[in-house]
Amino acid sequence: MNVEQIVAHARDVFAKAEDIASLENAKARFLGKTGELSTLLKTLGALDIAARKREGARMNVAKQQIEDLLRARRETLKRALMQRRLTAEAIDVTLPGRGIGPGALHPVMNSWERAENIFRGIGFDIADGPEIETEWTNFTALNSPENHPARSMQDTFYIDAHRATGERLLLRTHTSPMQIRYARAHRPPLRVLTAGRTYRVDSDATHAPMFHQVEGLWIDERLSFAELKGVYIHFLRQFFERDDVHIRFRPSYFPFTEPSAEIDMKFEQGRYAGRWLEVSGAGQVHPNVLHNMGLDPERYMGFAFGSGLERLTMLRYGIEDLRLFFEGDVRFLKQFA
Ligand code: DAH
Repeated sequence: MNVEQIVAHARDVFAKAEDIASLENAKARFLGKTGELSTLLKTLGALDIAARKREGARMNVAKQQIEDLLRARRETLKRALMQRRLTAEAIDVTLPGRGIGPGALHPVMNSWERAENIFRGIGFDIADGPEIETEWTNFTALNSPENHPARSMQDTFYIDAHRATGERLLLRTHTSPMQIRYARAHRPPLRVLTAGRTYRVDSDATHAPMFHQVEGLWIDERLSFAELKGVYIHFLRQFFERDDVHIRFRPSYFPFTEPSAEIDMKFEQGRYAGRWLEVSGAGQVHPNVLHNMGLDPERYMGFAFGSGLERLTMLRYGIEDLRLFFEGDVRFLKQFA
């Protein structure tokens, strides 16, 4: 092969190299010690001086050309590689950003805070208590003796560990045990609101195994349903931020109150207009419960209520399915932020 053929061959081979690695391999075939050009160089010795000079110069030019071809091909391959990576790793900067939201209270937490603020505003103390309760405080002291059918209405999760006293522990089924705890630690007259998480073996569109209640207790020497009614309607009007709220008491049964009532409410206007909606249990504190509070039932009387916070929140916003509160779907939650 002559110089021109070698250069042409190199151009051809370099063009066929599809990546940098094969290009560098191909380089040795032309510029390496045993490459085509070096082989040709060895034939120079047989030529006379003038021809050797002329052919030597041509070979130098050829070597230079091959190096230029190599460099050019290397550049092309590098650029192609870069182009492929840019395409593969492309980021669409025109997509809307994910953003970092400031975060907000869960709607149920918001209702919890609102309830506390409303009752604090009318002189109620705010208290909270343990979610893991003793069987005594959750049931027995509230006048639901062992084997009483009312206990099965509030089936719950029992804890394997017992207290040192041998007493069974459970997840509280309502916030009512806080009535016992608070009344045993304070002297009447007392007014307290306590809210928090409660648990039951229950799960469907309107029941969750974990939910929230607000509980109110008012104990004094002379009280009546009128006080309870006044306090509760004040709460509802503040909570729903409207005046067209009416309530009625419907006879009911709870072991810890006598008489017991269900509080229903009705809006004059809007989505639920004219429909009675159940919002709370209530009643006059049972003498046995006053006794378990360490109070003399002959001297003191009390009124109490317990309402579901999810239920109140659903009515406030017109939410139909309780489970939405627990799914953590931001599309739902951010409507309340
Ligand atoms: N603890 C009851 C429940 O979870 C609700 C309730 C009813 C609470 C009457 C009260 C009350 O304080 O007086 O269903």
